[in-house]
Amino acid sequence: MEYYQLIKSIHIVTAIFSIGGFLLRSWWVVNHSLKTNLVAVKVLPHINDTLLLIAGILLVYWGPYSPIAEPLSFLWLIAKWIFLLVYIVAGRFALKQAKTKQGKLNAMILALTSILIILILAIYKPLLIGWPILG
Ligand code: HEM
Repeated sequence: MEYYQLIKSIHIVTAIFSIGGFLLRSWWVVNHSLKTNLVAVKVLPHINDTLLLIAGILLVYWGPYSPIAEPLSFLWLIAKWIFLLVYIVAGRFALKQAKTKQGKLNAMILALTSILIILILAIYKPLLIGWPILG
């Protein structure tokens, strides 16, 4: 269980770096800063996000939220993955793919909204049971 707490701490710290890094790069993109071209700025987020993902997978494997042990306590995690996908795609558009400034800003707002939902899901872990959509 000590290991679980350690992995959870790594997960939380890398989540903070991921969000902070995204905010910083968004700021640079909006201000046309050349810092976005630095090798470290391109490489470090990938290393951090890989650690975040590995820690997340280990938490699922060792923790009480496994789909096998207790399928219902897994639902918040599935919702979190869906918003994680939205965050990744919107993040790519915000930092790279979108051609116009307005497009980049829209993608940033979508990415930040997804991150907020991810954090709410991660912290409160709603089971989604009783939500209108599930009756
Ligand atoms: C942008 C991506 C992610 C962010 C920002 C994020 C953030 C967080 C945060 C802040 C917590 C701690 C909540 C608390 O204080 O109780 C947490 C918990 C957790 N996360 Fe993530 N996470 C992300 C991706 C993932 C992924 C990809 C997985 C699984 C593959 C995952 C699995 C978990 C699990 C199982 C917990 C529960 C730990 C526990 O409370 O015992 N997360 N996440």
